[in-house]
Amino acid sequence: MAKKCFYLFLLLVLYNLSTQPTNSLSQNKISPIDLNALREIKNQLTDIPSITSTQHFLSSWNFTSPDPCSSFLGVTCSSSGKVVVLALGTGLTDSPGLAGTLSPSIAKLTELNQLILFSGIVTGSIPAQIGSLKNLRVIALTNNRLNGAIPATIFNLANLHTLDLSHNQLSGPIPATISGLTQLKVLVLGSNRLSGLLPGAFPDQLLHLDLSSNGISGMLPRQLPSALHYLSVAQNHLWGPLNGLELLSDLVYLDLSMNQLSGSIPTSLFRPTLNSMLLQRNNLSGGVPQASPTTYGSGSIVDLSHNFLTGNLTTALIGVETLFLNNNLLTGTVPKEYINTGSIKTLYLQHNYFTGFPDGTLTDSISICLSYNCMVPPIGLAACPASTGEQLSRPSYQCSAFRKGNSSSD
Ligand SMILES: *[C@@H]1O[C@H](CO)[C@@H](O)[C@H](O)[C@H]1NC(C)=O
Ligand SMILES: *[C@@H]1O[C@H](CO)[C@@H](O)[C@H](O)[C@H]1NC(C)=O
Ligand SMILES: *[C@@H]1O[C@H](CO)[C@@H](O)[C@H](O)[C@H]1NC(C)=O
Ligand SMILES: *[C@@H]1O[C@H](CO)[C@@H](O)[C@H](O)[C@H]1NC(C)=O
Repeated sequence: MAKKCFYLFLLLVLYNLSTQPTNSLSQNKISPIDLNALREIKNQLTDIPSITSTQHFLSSWNFTSPDPCSSFLGVTCSSSGKVVVLALGTGLTDSPGLAGTLSPSIAKLTELNQLILFSGIVTGSIPAQIGSLKNLRVIALTNNRLNGAIPATIFNLANLHTLDLSHNQLSGPIPATISGLTQLKVLVLGSNRLSGLLPGAFPDQLLHLDLSSNGISGMLPRQLPSALHYLSVAQNHLWGPLNGLELLSDLVYLDLSMNQLSGSIPTSLFRPTLNSMLLQRNNLSGGVPQASPTTYGSGSIVDLSHNFLTGNLTTALIGVETLFLNNNLLTGTVPKEYINTGSIKTLYLQHNYFTGFPDGTLTDSISICLSYNCMVPPIGLAACPASTGEQLSRPSYQCSAFRKGNSSSD
């Protein structure tokens, strides 16, 4: 849900920018330099043949046309006939997109401020020459097969607002110069093959940072941009404590799942404005802090599963709609508010050391899994995923070692 909202937000950003300096109604004579560059760009690309798609992109680029600025799909010119927006591909969902490579001649479009490549199978590297395009505000080259390193020159583009290179095969590290991009608001480099250390600093005004599904290692920086709304570095090789998150008061989406992060979860993250907190499959320890019950919004999700959390479950997460706490070391009785407040839809508590679950009326619309704890789950409370196994309770010898005061009073 939150993810969807952010893609909408991204699109809005793109849309706003694309409506800025355009002027395709008046017939602008295209600059001969730009026309020639478009010819060279076309020479290295082809439309992927498709039975279902009704519109081919490159076939609209007919160089005998008297007015390329208005007849070429994906080309928008300024009033002086310079190309300001180049969007390669129709972007239609039934279109398979383009194949081929990106021509370095893109850099001859000297007034370009948006460069977009829609989903396809374009290969090869991102031409380093585009780093000379000082007006570039948006670079969005997603869901293709671009490879090689991200050209260092891109990180010198002082006006860059959005850089989205997600879902390609880009490799190499993210350079430290990223922190110098003082206009950058949206950075999406997820689902590539990036490696090296996570940069120690990101631009202050960054709102959206997605580096998920790469091979990035190192620790979270002590300070992350305080404006962040969306942060995902899921599925990488990060380790060390959950640094830098305390001051992110505008954060609504946090995904650091599937790393090797350790230490405890900062208390400040247990707040309803953080609508999605995904920290599963790390090495986190400590407990769920004491906090008064709050109202989480609809669509809220907290996933702390597959960690090493200890202690009793507090009331801090009451109101969360989808809550995964399974595969931890949690003990005690589950507070009754978790099932009484009516907002819960999924509650996974399996593979812990819980000793009690409150009585109460449960509607069929709630999925609760309680298997493999230090109790026999009440009848019907075993809406468990297949991976949970068949055993309803933990062997008792495992449970006795976890009883309070095992060593003295027992
Ligand atoms: C290109 O446009 C010219 C007229 O401007 C037309 O005669 C020609 O058939 C077009 N070519 C293609 C491939 O559509
Ligand atoms: C994470 O925990 C696993 C299992 O206990 C351990 O093998 C690994 O070394 C830990 N990694 C870090 C970075 O703490
Ligand atoms: C944890 O819960 C158990 C049983 O619900 C209770 O006996 C114990 O006092 C609790 N421990 C703490 C530290 O609250
Ligand atoms: C807990 O008590 C049991 C016997 O009741 C003993 O076998 C076990 O070693 C104790 N565990 C710890 C961690 O002290």
